[in-house]
Amino acid sequence: MGIVLIWSLIVALIRWITSKRRGAISYDSSDQTALYIRMLGDVRVRSRLGFEPERRGSHPYLYIDFRILHSRPESAGPLSARKVRRLLSFQRYLHSSRFFRGAPPQNPLYILDDDYTGQAKCMLEKVGSWNFDIFLFDRLTNGNSLVSLTFHLFNQYGLIDLFQLDMVKLRRFLVMVQEDYHSQNPYHNAVHAADVTQAMHCYLKEPKLSKSLTSWDILLGLLAAATHDLDHPGVNQPFLIKTNHYLAALYKNTSVLENHHWRSAVGLLRESGLFAHLPVEDRLKMESQLGSLILATDISRQNDYLAQFRTHLDKGDLCLGNAGHRHFILQMALKCADICNPCRPWRLSKQWSEKVTEEFFHQGDIEKKYKLDVSPLCDSQTDTVENIQIGFMTYVAEPLFVEWGRFSDTRLSQTMLGYLGLNKASWRGKLQEQTSSGDDTDPALEETDSEVLPQGSKEL
Ligand SMILES: *[C@@H]1O[C@H](CO)[C@@H](O)[C@H](O)[C@H]1NC(C)=O
Ligand SMILES: [Zn+2]
Repeated sequence: MGIVLIWSLIVALIRWITSKRRGAISYDSSDQTALYIRMLGDVRVRSRLGFEPERRGSHPYLYIDFRILHSRPESAGPLSARKVRRLLSFQRYLHSSRFFRGAPPQNPLYILDDDYTGQAKCMLEKVGSWNFDIFLFDRLTNGNSLVSLTFHLFNQYGLIDLFQLDMVKLRRFLVMVQEDYHSQNPYHNAVHAADVTQAMHCYLKEPKLSKSLTSWDILLGLLAAATHDLDHPGVNQPFLIKTNHYLAALYKNTSVLENHHWRSAVGLLRESGLFAHLPVEDRLKMESQLGSLILATDISRQNDYLAQFRTHLDKGDLCLGNAGHRHFILQMALKCADICNPCRPWRLSKQWSEKVTEEFFHQGDIEKKYKLDVSPLCDSQTDTVENIQIGFMTYVAEPLFVEWGRFSDTRLSQTMLGYLGLNKASWRGKLQEQTSSGDDTDPALEETDSEVLPQGSKEL
């Protein structure tokens, strides 16, 4: 997914706008959105130029496995050779263990206390609720939220019967998917994937979709949601490019992460043999459609999708009897599910915001440690969770959910936009508290309109 990229874009835009504002030029918010979108290309260029070529290739960091760096701060201090070896062998264990999973040796759910299992089951009765607490569900399932939730949904939609899926293969596939997410990532881990899958389920149930989608569409939508960030390294694309990561070369600097998530998902599908009984044309069609859904989550392409969506809505020409149009709506639904954190109730939304900020700052710390340019939004000294959120909500989430609300004008859409507004106000409130208690506010910031411009980044 490209969520990390989005955020870097926001800050770049904010910096740009602020520099313009200092030149006494003001913009209304639609201009700002346009500017933000224009920044999408520039950031990539800038981060490339920002990296001095002579350092490349000789940099000690360049060939290190990211997973090693993702030991959490608590396990502090420089990594000893032993720790590195342990981490590496852990990874190797995870990978090799796949080949011995003929029959899942122990279903992790069985080791749970009956009471927790009972409570998790109880939660699944409300799996279609927008207030579903995925964090609680993850605790109740002992960290197996993605497996439990997705399996439950496959069952509930009747996909197991319809596609004659082998339940053992399905469970094994889902366990592999869950394990290929990095639990060390504060944000891009299996709980995020479970959250996106749950949101996708909510959208699939919306009247316009539920009366037109086929079982094939539902199967694809759920699979794409569950796998859309598979094996995410916890750093963004510019980071992979500037550190010469092999994935950047493999995917020619384009949708590097999304291509990797997709190819990883295809690898697991083939390895599990989940659809081995289907005709090869169907399997290939599934793999390619899965790719087109996952690639749609690349946020640097958000503008294209949004423009296309608007055009359809203006013309009123979306016809969900048409397979191509249904696929487009699935892409939009997955995009919404992927960035729906700001539309959840505050107590959930706030936790996501803190997690994503932690992941950004962790990337920034690595960049500082290895004397790379610190990526936008990743500097714990200057960026704040409040600014990051307000920018993200204003320039990324809101435009998307407004269009989605036009397409699917339902109570759920109203609820999501309602929470979005409330959550933004909450972050603004926190910002205000800080500003009124702080004394070193930059006067250049005070004159800016807090309605459209996040404040407080000291390097602005
Ligand atoms: C990817 O970007 C890097 C850094 O700018 C550049 O050196 C490399 O040639 C690019 N690779 C491709 C295939 O465009
Ligand atoms: Zn995602």
